[in-house]
Amino acid sequence: MNHDAEILATQIDGIAHSLGTWIAGGIGHLKNRPESWGFAGNPTLQTLTMLHVALEGTSAKSPALLECGSGFGFVAALARELGFSVTGIEVVPEYIELSRRLFPAVRIVEDDLLTWDHFGDFDVVYYNGPFAHDQIQANFERRIETRLRPGGIILAVRKVDHTWQASGAFDLLWTDGALRWVLRKHPAVA
Ligand SMILES: C[S@@+](CC[C@H](N)C(=O)[O-])C[C@H]1O[C@@H](n2cnc3c(N)ncnc32)[C@H](O)[C@@H]1O
Repeated sequence: MNHDAEILATQIDGIAHSLGTWIAGGIGHLKNRPESWGFAGNPTLQTLTMLHVALEGTSAKSPALLECGSGFGFVAALARELGFSVTGIEVVPEYIELSRRLFPAVRIVEDDLLTWDHFGDFDVVYYNGPFAHDQIQANFERRIETRLRPGGIILAVRKVDHTWQASGAFDLLWTDGALRWVLRKHPAVA
């Protein structure tokens, strides 16, 4: 990563963080939704690294990427610029409105990830949380891992469940060794 990119990423993170404080009241649970985080952005440089690993790890052309809990749309917009065909799912209408103003070309759908269940339609699924309650987060992660199509890639931030390691169904493509994991589901055996 060159120095100019690092400077730009720092500026973008500063803007996202200040919007998070201004619009979403900083890091904390969603109003009336104690199981969910509100807005807390993944640092742009980390997101870029994960998106590049996904691009190298998929054979799909213009891979379909789902951002779970797209917030203000920064990750979705970045992914779109890199060539992904992007859909964001977000539950907070105010975040969606701001996201559409900031990044009008990015497709955002208002829905609740507790019940939404179309993970199998995507080549790449990204999430950062969004659940603050570990058991709910773990159930959510396992639902994605089950539904994901063979060869599909998961970009996980704040991953809490690691039963995938024993299942043998995924290859680890990259990790920072703590919060961030990139996994690829084994392709279907013909
Ligand atoms: C930790 S933020 C992540 C923001 C962004 N994806 C990123 O990584 O920078 C979690 C986002 O998920 C959203 N969220 C929380 N619970 C949700 C739910 N049940 N359905 C859809 N979105 C949800 C929050 O409103 C918030 O925008």
